[in-house]
Amino acid sequence: MINVDGSLNVYKTKGKVDNLCEFCNDKDVSGTVGIAHTRWATHGEPSARNAHPHFSQSHNLAIIHNGIIENYADIKQRLMGKGVKFVSDTDTEVLVQLIEYIMVSKNLSLQEAVPLALYQVIGAYAIAVLDKRAPRQIVAARKQSPLVVGIGDGEFFLGSDASPIIEYTDKVVYLEDGNIAFIRLNERQEGGESDDSGMELKVTSILGEEQKLQVNTVDFDLGQIEKGGYPHFMLKEIFEQPDCLTNCMRGRVNVEADHVTLSALIDYRRQLLNAKRVIIVACGTSWHAGLIGKQLIETFCRIPVEVEYASEFRYRNPVVNKDDVVIAISQSGETADTLAAVQLAKERGAFIYGICNAIGSSIPRATHTGTYIHVGPEIGVASTKAFTGQVTVLTMFALALAEAKGTLDRDEYLKVVKGLSEIPDKIREVLKTNDHVADLARTFTYAHNFLYLGRGFSYPVALEGALKLKEISYIHAEGYPAAEMKHGPIALIDSDMPVVVVATHDAMYEKVLSNIQEIKARKGRVIALVTQGDDTIARIADEVIELPDVMECLEPLVATIPLQLLSYHVAVCKGKDVDQPRNLAKSVTVE
Ligand code: AGP
Repeated sequence: MINVDGSLNVYKTKGKVDNLCEFCNDKDVSGTVGIAHTRWATHGEPSARNAHPHFSQSHNLAIIHNGIIENYADIKQRLMGKGVKFVSDTDTEVLVQLIEYIMVSKNLSLQEAVPLALYQVIGAYAIAVLDKRAPRQIVAARKQSPLVVGIGDGEFFLGSDASPIIEYTDKVVYLEDGNIAFIRLNERQEGGESDDSGMELKVTSILGEEQKLQVNTVDFDLGQIEKGGYPHFMLKEIFEQPDCLTNCMRGRVNVEADHVTLSALIDYRRQLLNAKRVIIVACGTSWHAGLIGKQLIETFCRIPVEVEYASEFRYRNPVVNKDDVVIAISQSGETADTLAAVQLAKERGAFIYGICNAIGSSIPRATHTGTYIHVGPEIGVASTKAFTGQVTVLTMFALALAEAKGTLDRDEYLKVVKGLSEIPDKIREVLKTNDHVADLARTFTYAHNFLYLGRGFSYPVALEGALKLKEISYIHAEGYPAAEMKHGPIALIDSDMPVVVVATHDAMYEKVLSNIQEIKARKGRVIALVTQGDDTIARIADEVIELPDVMECLEPLVATIPLQLLSYHVAVCKGKDVDQPRNLAKSVTVE
């Protein structure tokens, strides 16, 4: 924090934000402008020394930074040659030292020097910089890392997304790539001579052209980002899935449950209808949703679909044609790799359709059209309701496109739409297994490895179950198509190995049943997800979790739920930090 007298108070701690709050209890945290940062270590270990803010050599400038400065080593070398001394291992310190070097050598203000410094930088950044000699201003900028300005009553806020800001204001400006924001508290206000807010926000491009401010109203309330009586956000978010999916379908699946309308398919009918191929780009859980989307679109619409890790797609010179439709899936809408994949596909002439949760975030803004999943802010790092929201939108998309193309039999179409509309109630039923799953979790907490198996629509469910477990419990887990087990993973099976098998009544039931027998023959411990009333598997498996009967294409929406609960309860039993697992970030804005 900087005070008007130019005094600068800096507090840093290692570990959780709560540690910092406690540390600051008896400290002076007053001031006119302040910056704060939680660091996701890219350069240098997590430590107070490497924590932000970083300072210029004179200690006049302080900076916080999300992202990576790729050419930091070159710039550092150059500055060291000019006598600049560094105290941390970070790329961020290089940037603030560069800003100061430009200010001093060219006799410029902070506002003038920041664009010149950023001009020399290769990489991604969202920064906020203070100068203690100018205690009424803050300069912020973004490139490939999100940055939002909140406009309050006589105050401004900066955040990497709107959720920490909505407690204070619902008016936000989303900065575009290459934007620099100058926020200033006018001096006359401090003398009490002005009855206006006395604050000023100006946004320019890196070349100094003033940008028109577009002020957006954020429409979620505080309740959505509170735990509402649940011990963790993740559990709350698992349990709110029935309501979230109802919201996701509202106005899209009609009340009679016999028709799906997506505005994107009305506004961009030609582009979507003429698609020769669909390429889905995403990361992590969103990529798993993409695998389900592939099966839905190929089955209903008879269009070939490729599903790509956005991080691979962006760097491998992919073949993208003008009649390709690229679907970008992202909860946060800020994932750097997915955003870059969108930009690449767009440059190559593809039509881009986004499926995102965070309203106004970078990916929806970069796409031609899209559909928001509308499941409300997801706070737990492990994605749960966003996944089922993405799968719901993909189902609606495939249905709407199939209807427009005439590729799906009318009766089948009606059956799927009806089945989809009933999913929230089916999930309510599955959630009743929570206590049973919690008991199971206690039994299996000992394990160091887990295998997850599924086939067809259940294969991505197995992948997602494994990812969820490893993210929050730090247990090694692998997802496989069940039939692949015999090509390698079967070697791992012994009496210590829990194998979670999605074995519901679908086209592959008999085959998956054989896989379960193969596991039992090697003394593996089977936890099977079965359709209600399945006695056959109940007799062979060690544990079963029963699921309501749904159409095969909708099964991921119900089968995912007990796997979310299983990973949650295992992590709780192991005493892990469920909502903020180590080394992970909610928005991965670095590549
Ligand atoms: C999900 O549990 C993970 N936290 C992670 O895999 C996530 O899905 C991935 O980083 C992609 O994020 P996005 O959906 O915001 O693009």
